[in-house]
Amino acid sequence: MNDHRPAAVIILAAGEGTRMKSKTPKVLHPIGGLPLLGHAMRAAKGADARETVVVIRHAREQVAAYITSVTDCPAQIADQDDIKGTARAVECGLDALPADLTGTVVVTMGDVPLLTAETIGQLTVRHEEAGAAVTVITSILPDAKQYGRVVRGDDGEVERIVEFKDASEAEREIREINSGIYAFDAEALRAALPRITPHNAQGEKYLTDVIELAREDGRPVVGWPLTDLWQTEGVNDRSQLAQLGRILNERTCHAHMVAGVTIVDPSSTWIDVDVTIAPDATILPNTQLIGATEIAEDAVVGPEVTLVDTEVGAGATVRRAEAHLAVIGAGASVGPYSYLRPGTELGARGKIGGFVETKNAVIRAGAKVPHLTYCGDAVIGEGANIGAGTIFANYDGVAKAKTTVGKHSFVGSNSVLVAPVAIADGAYVGAGTALTEDVGPGQIAVARAKQRNVSGWVARRRAGTATAQAAADAEAELPPPSA
Ligand code: UD1
Ligand code: MG
Repeated sequence: MNDHRPAAVIILAAGEGTRMKSKTPKVLHPIGGLPLLGHAMRAAKGADARETVVVIRHAREQVAAYITSVTDCPAQIADQDDIKGTARAVECGLDALPADLTGTVVVTMGDVPLLTAETIGQLTVRHEEAGAAVTVITSILPDAKQYGRVVRGDDGEVERIVEFKDASEAEREIREINSGIYAFDAEALRAALPRITPHNAQGEKYLTDVIELAREDGRPVVGWPLTDLWQTEGVNDRSQLAQLGRILNERTCHAHMVAGVTIVDPSSTWIDVDVTIAPDATILPNTQLIGATEIAEDAVVGPEVTLVDTEVGAGATVRRAEAHLAVIGAGASVGPYSYLRPGTELGARGKIGGFVETKNAVIRAGAKVPHLTYCGDAVIGEGANIGAGTIFANYDGVAKAKTTVGKHSFVGSNSVLVAPVAIADGAYVGAGTALTEDVGPGQIAVARAKQRNVSGWVARRRAGTATAQAAADAEAELPPPSA
């Protein structure tokens, strides 16, 4: 049992995020298939925080609705009022927690998606082992930009943090910056917050002022420089969103590779955080694995595949295809150029081939839909074969209807199966049939105009052409009619 759990994690997410230039609140923009805020909520949950509070204000209803929808990482919502600043935000967060809360309160940000649960855990351990009032995660940057500067005393202790806008020339030279992520002792935090004033360049209540107040109270303050700079990097604009999205993806791919998955080209492979991939699966270039996609062992996916919420069975191959909410059985084969829409279930060793679109279609074990087919609202029995160019006509302009094809049946090429219609087990449909009636076991259904050959037509109607000459030559070589 971890005896260094944070008592609470307060996630600050009240800011406006104007640089995103978006109607979507910044913290709801996704990377890796999860909103930025979702990453922060997961990290809090992963660190085993007793309580999680998200402080919100901008786009309140949308952000609150998202928080409520994340049932696997429950968090309380705290509304920030008109008073501005990170200290006020934390004060509002603290108000949502029990007034006598003790222990460590970690403060993180809703727009900092790469901070891990492990780092929150280590921060809590360091903070508690040092008996500190405040432990602040810092970064040492080549270009410290407009971040708050960490001012250390001659003894190396953190004395205070000064915001760029309030800093002297000398302070602006400091390259150790405040990441904005901290652990606080709950009692020290509660004692300091009401004493913070907005008397600074921005007229805001700065959370960083807690440091000086804690030191006045004789409590130690610790600065912990984190070398993994990406973990504390925030998103302010869409360029940073893309950059952090790429770093997250690199980390996701790396974790899968360490766990035994072959990823031939991680730089062109995009994997959402909730995707699962078994060891010995292979992912080929230009592939996107989205949502709750699951890939079983020995499957080969790619190149150029997009799978959304799709299951791929052991040893299956999926090439140059797109699938949404589909299930692909063990040893099955999909692609190239296949489009599997929701409700597609391909059985073990089944096949969906080139230029085939399926929707709400159950294709049982060993059945094949190899070429140029639309297959909607269908059940295709075990071992059946659907000929090239078959169309399942499932929609009459008003309603959808279903087609069944029995096991080991065979549908000839270029047929139209006009639903509702049923083909029994062990039946045939002749090529080019427009099928409107059911077919019984062992029957063949043929529905097309009967063939008629008109002798001498080319000689009469195309006289003098190369075709007429070819016909004449071929006729001359025919064996004489037997006597
Ligand atoms: C803050 C720090 C700065 C640090 C930087 C790291 C203060 C005073 N300064 O600066 O030292 O280097 O973060 O990124 O804390 N927020 C609220 N309510 C508010 C204001 C902010 O919830 O009233 C949230 C924002 O949504 C954001 C976070 O707090 O997630 C930080 O706010 P931001 O305005 O970006 O802080 P900075 O001024 O950049
Ligand atoms: Mg600010």
